[in-house]
Amino acid sequence: MKKSLSVLILSAACAFVAAQAAAQEKFEPAQIKRGSAIYSQNCSPCHGPQMADPAGAFDLRTFPADQKSRFLNSVTKGKNQMPPWGDLFNPEEIETLWAYVMAGEKK
Ligand code: HEC
Repeated sequence: MKKSLSVLILSAACAFVAAQAAAQEKFEPAQIKRGSAIYSQNCSPCHGPQMADPAGAFDLRTFPADQKSRFLNSVTKGKNQMPPWGDLFNPEEIETLWAYVMAGEKK
């Protein structure tokens, strides 16, 4: 009982820290632009042009901002029908995709 309560408090604290980190994250325009270029060549066939109209794939406009590690992991290693991209793009390039997904189509 005592243990599960502290786990609960700990995970609440982690979620708070993660949300703070996401809110503070700033993206360079050049980084977003690079991510956008990679996206339109490699991701748009499934996730839709400019992330709109993702058909059967995940709507990336709704990807939670506080789950960056999930993003990096899914993109690097793939998930179910989505192929892995870790052999094609280096971590820096995958970071630009994160920047694009988070900030690229915000008006
Ligand atoms: C062949 C089609 C296809 C391509 C190309 C593709 N994806 Fe996906 N993607 C999917 C599908 C289908 C899912 C849903 C996977 C699931 O949850 O079962 C998905 C899910 C995702 C998710 C959510 C994963 C999660 O944790 O729920 C992210 C993020 C993502 N894709 C990013 C990308 C990026 C970035 C690219 C380009 C580098 C890309 N995808 C290219 C089909 C694709």
